[in-house]
Amino acid sequence: MTHIKASITGIQGYVPDYVLTNAELETMVATNDEWIVSRTGIKERRILKGEGLGSSHMGAEAVKGLLEKTNTSPKEIDLLICATTTPDFVFPCTANLICDMVGIRNVGSFDIQAACSGFLYALTLGSQFIETGKYKKVIVVGSDKMSAIVDYTDRKTCILFGDGAGAVLLEADTEGYGIIDSLIKSDGAGYPYLNQKAGGSRYPPSHETIDNRLHYVYQDGAQVFKFAVTNMADVSAEIMERNGLKGSDVAWLVPHQANRRIIEATANRMNVGMDKVMVNIQKYGNTTAATIPLCLWDYESQLKKGDNLILAAFGGGFTWGSIYLKWAYQG
Ligand SMILES: CC(C)(COP(=O)(O)OP(=O)(O)OC[C@H]1O[C@@H](n2cnc3c(N)ncnc32)[C@H](O)[C@@H]1OP(=O)(O)O)[C@@H](O)C(=O)NCCC(=O)NCCS
Repeated sequence: MTHIKASITGIQGYVPDYVLTNAELETMVATNDEWIVSRTGIKERRILKGEGLGSSHMGAEAVKGLLEKTNTSPKEIDLLICATTTPDFVFPCTANLICDMVGIRNVGSFDIQAACSGFLYALTLGSQFIETGKYKKVIVVGSDKMSAIVDYTDRKTCILFGDGAGAVLLEADTEGYGIIDSLIKSDGAGYPYLNQKAGGSRYPPSHETIDNRLHYVYQDGAQVFKFAVTNMADVSAEIMERNGLKGSDVAWLVPHQANRRIIEATANRMNVGMDKVMVNIQKYGNTTAATIPLCLWDYESQLKKGDNLILAAFGGGFTWGSIYLKWAYQG
């Protein structure tokens, strides 16, 4: 029996036009370009401006571009999964809205919430539907409007995040390309260190939650940093080991873009040189579920058929994971 793998056959990103520079942040909070660049590697990020625009609008732009680029009709899509931590609404889900905006109708669509590991979780899940033969074409989107939940009076967090989206098309492959292995993990004991406390069922919106600024991202940066370095490196090392890969076998490491120092520590642990690591944090900051597809989009022209890619992410939850895939087409 031929083993079916789910391979990425197209990638498209979308970032809003507005550029929020370190210089502009200097006018908003007590910070400076030198501190931000040396501690995080971030120079600027994109912000979605405009009333009534949410993560679905960016996701829909990415999906429209993806359909066009891959010559795919919305009618051919069997399933759409959207990873987001900043859904437009509590319900309906953002995936439903994206489908409506791009004309994908009468198929399943749903959201995955695994914070910054969301895209990796969604890709793992979407690939199962292809591998079992149930579906032929699945779209996985990562879209986050982090500016909606970032406190622009908190210098410890507002410098880190940006808005953006990315989408991939998954199709069946029987020639050995595509997703070879994936590992997803979580530990809910990480909740106190990275969260948005209010707005859900535990603390519904009230004057008190707003007065106490509980609708914004809260982060204990040092704890998250320690966790990220250890777990992103561990899970990447684990996936390499169980697939018999050495650092020299890896064409590209595609890490979640949260902090350049975390990216460097992960690459170092995997014995992969920085020339083989996708980095675009300087342009976009941390776009949560969008960082990995935005990296693939930016580096697409450098990818070769058969390249071994290791995708790695970590995020709130805590959640973390890694995917090993063989790139399926010439970029
Ligand atoms: C947030 C982060 C960049 C902070 O960097 P850090 O080197 O740990 O810095 P610290 O938090 O120890 O702060 C050092 C000093 O800089 C100050 N500082 C914090 N933010 C600052 C800013 N934007 N500008 C200037 N100074 C700042 C702090 O107040 C502190 O000053 P103090 O020593 O007088 O108290 C870092 O902890 C980090 O990246 N953590 C992980 C974040 C992450 O990955 N999040 C996403 C998860 S998906």
